[in-house]
Amino acid sequence: MAATYKPVLWNRHKRVYDVVIGVGIALYLAIFIAVGMSTADSANTSIEILAISALGACAFFMLHVVLAIGPLARLSTTFLPLLYNRRHLGVSLFVVAAAHATFATVWYHGFGVLNPLVSLFVSNPRYDAIGSFPFESLGAVALVILFLMAATSHDFWLNNLSPAVWKTLHMLVYIAYGAVVLHVLLGAASGHGGSPLYVWAVVVGFVIIAGLHLGAAIAQGGRDRAQRSAPKNDWIDAGPADAIPQRRARIVIAPSGAQIAIFRYDGRVSAVSNVCAHQMGPLGEGCIVDGLVTCPWHGWQYDPATGRSPPPYTERVETFNVRIENGRILVDPKPNAKGAPATPAAIG
Ligand code: HEM
Ligand code: FES
Repeated sequence: MAATYKPVLWNRHKRVYDVVIGVGIALYLAIFIAVGMSTADSANTSIEILAISALGACAFFMLHVVLAIGPLARLSTTFLPLLYNRRHLGVSLFVVAAAHATFATVWYHGFGVLNPLVSLFVSNPRYDAIGSFPFESLGAVALVILFLMAATSHDFWLNNLSPAVWKTLHMLVYIAYGAVVLHVLLGAASGHGGSPLYVWAVVVGFVIIAGLHLGAAIAQGGRDRAQRSAPKNDWIDAGPADAIPQRRARIVIAPSGAQIAIFRYDGRVSAVSNVCAHQMGPLGEGCIVDGLVTCPWHGWQYDPATGRSPPPYTERVETFNVRIENGRILVDPKPNAKGAPATPAAIG
């Protein structure tokens, strides 16, 4: 971790996650095409167009999942496992979207005199009309953003772009989402897309994504306010120790604004800063793997009792003193120095 970048280690969770993504995509496409073949008007629908639709709809669905993971994990720890490896989900989303775009470009633009990529942008110049807007260009905007995100998701880029640049780049996912929504709606308006179901899917998807983000923001705001209103120098009551799932954490905010991640493991609790030394990832949304706090973003690890990365790495985060009274965790809001040992508190 002190080196230029650290390759992400493979573990069983990551393999299971990848298998679930791969099988999910294959099943989605197979079911979509099978249902489409059995219900479509065979004179107007070909397997090629069904495949283009299936890939586009699959990519759109995956984009919703990517956007929903963050707020879901903030609303309930049940969804935390989805955070692990979400980069793989993002890269898979790009691959499916790129397949959709490639097939669509070849199918609709590959047989004319113009280069297909030129034809994509100039064959329909009605950029001033809603009903016949060249909706494919909006798909292209989204695809470029998804590509940038997938390409820079590797640790090499994370380490070479500053956290601010990297985060800004990944916030572009919302622009990509907007572009795809318009791509689908304007496509439907211009007679593409076949079914009014797509319009309903866009509306329902938007309501779900907006509702989740709003709900997560309200819930987080309530938690922050309650924790900030606690007296400044008092130890913070962080709730019952046994309500924290094994090898997971509860995040509390000190009156100073410092975020503290309190981990439960091996019958003890320890508290460290919630902010990872790598790219400020939320350590408290990670879990304990092999006895070490493991960041959910890129897998950097820290000893929960000392805040130090295991040798040969040298990264350190702040620790916080904890004690347990009547089964409830009390945490000192004053941080210890980075890497300073803090005695774990035994539960019961
Ligand atoms: C260069 C990029 C893209 C091109 C050229 C393109 C092209 C097309 C075309 C031609 C259609 C209409 C298909 C039909 O006639 O039924 C379509 C629909 C659709 N596209 Fe794209 N697309 C692109 C990017 C994307 C991206 C990035 C996504 C999602 C992440 C996406 C999602 C969809 C969806 C959900 C539909 C509706 C399904 C359908 O109409 O069949 N597209 N796209
Ligand atoms: S490992 Fe990258 S932010 Fe924590």
